[in-house]
Amino acid sequence: MSRLVEFRGGVSLTSMKICIVGLGYVGLPLAIQFARCGANVVGLDIDASKVVAINRGESYIKHIAAETIAENLRANKLLASTDFSCIRQADAVIICVPTPLNKNREPDISYILDTGRRIAPHLSKGTLVVLESTTYPGTTDEDLRRVIEENSGLKAGVDFYLAFSPEREDPGNPNSVVATIPKVVGGFTRACLEKAVALYSIAIKQIVPVSSCRVAEATKLLENVFRSVNIALVNELKVIYGAMGIDVWEVINAAKTKPFGFMAFYPGPGLGGHCIPIDPFYLSWKAREYGRNTRFIELAGEINTAMPEYVIRCVADALNQHAKAVKGSRILVVGLAYKPDVDDERESPSYVLMTLLRERGADVEYYDPYVPIIKPTREHSQWAGKESVRWNEAVIASFDLILIATNHSVIDYQELADWAPFIIDTRNAMADTRVAPGQVWKA
Ligand SMILES: NC(=O)c1ccc[n+]([C@@H]2O[C@H](COP(=O)([O-])OP(=O)(O)OC[C@H]3O[C@@H](n4cnc5c(N)ncnc54)[C@H](O)[C@@H]3O)[C@@H](O)[C@H]2O)c1
Repeated sequence: MSRLVEFRGGVSLTSMKICIVGLGYVGLPLAIQFARCGANVVGLDIDASKVVAINRGESYIKHIAAETIAENLRANKLLASTDFSCIRQADAVIICVPTPLNKNREPDISYILDTGRRIAPHLSKGTLVVLESTTYPGTTDEDLRRVIEENSGLKAGVDFYLAFSPEREDPGNPNSVVATIPKVVGGFTRACLEKAVALYSIAIKQIVPVSSCRVAEATKLLENVFRSVNIALVNELKVIYGAMGIDVWEVINAAKTKPFGFMAFYPGPGLGGHCIPIDPFYLSWKAREYGRNTRFIELAGEINTAMPEYVIRCVADALNQHAKAVKGSRILVVGLAYKPDVDDERESPSYVLMTLLRERGADVEYYDPYVPIIKPTREHSQWAGKESVRWNEAVIASFDLILIATNHSVIDYQELADWAPFIIDTRNAMADTRVAPGQVWKA
């Protein structure tokens, strides 16, 4: 008998029911992976439009094919719902809801707590609850545990199992497959850990058990702080080497030939996405409770958030060389998504660049094949409704300056070189193109 069949006192895999709460960039791929492996998955979301889309076999995430959703629906392995009462029959509930910062840049775990309150009344004895949202150490065994216990009358580690397992999704990376990314798991008790390891073993090849929920939470933060600090380092070197006339991209490409002790990180116009600009500050906030400062995190944040201003200075200098001012110039920002080959523009530095340029009087447009129109958001409401320009010679040649903010691989950069009078490249996207002398500046 396999350990899968033993899950929750003899529930076989084909009858195993998993509820995944939050059907976003993390929850949806996870739901599909469990469904593919034979579990019966119900995806729960408060956003009814996502629920309707999934039940129609439609995808709202670029790198997830509608057909993948449809085939799991047809196999009766996947279903979406807004009705939390289906948690009553669940063997496991996995929470993948947002963990943003509030307007004072402090952790906002209200989505986690709200989810805890919603699931608690429907929780049965013996159910496993796993949190996947990135957060500070203590969220699972203090905050989430408290709201579930208060609203269910059940006790963690006694009546229900509780664990934390951070998500390691890398959208847009074709080599990043949920099943093959090792999964760190920490439990509230030893039994909780064992349940969580058994659950993830259904769908993921390698499980990495750790001694507690807090260690698992801290592991995810280490991974993201590591990225933030290393990106800050290469961003700082970009500015220093740039002043010396040395191309930091050439330096990094040479350095990464070292077979040990070096890992390449690349500079950019500023941090973007739902993780790296946000998660490290979850740790900073929690560290203050212990009277500790997180100097690396603060410094990295300072350097990375200064990057858009640096890029704008480069834009102004470049226009100046052409006897133009930022004010009145037509500037096209290429790439609105925060990283290549995704349609996710949350926290994208492109918004900051566009806003800074507009504040200086530029006439700003953007091109992004994956973001045809800017949806309304709280943070960038002034850009809502703006549409991507079309990609053709007449349009591209009509701009005074092109600013490459994101290097989507579907963009034809040689066409850009052939059509655009002048390009500022923050991503080394023009490296392999034929360009006129002085036509491309790196920033
Ligand atoms: N996107 C990534 O690449 C990535 C990678 C690793 C970790 N994470 C972490 O995973 C978590 C989720 O991120 P995401 O990118 O999937 O977010 P997302 O915004 O794409 O999806 C979250 C979903 O949760 C839903 N939701 C919010 N509150 C809810 C509630 N109370 N009940 C049910 N559904 C609710 C939202 O409607 C949304 O569909 C975050 O903590 C994030 O930091 C994200």
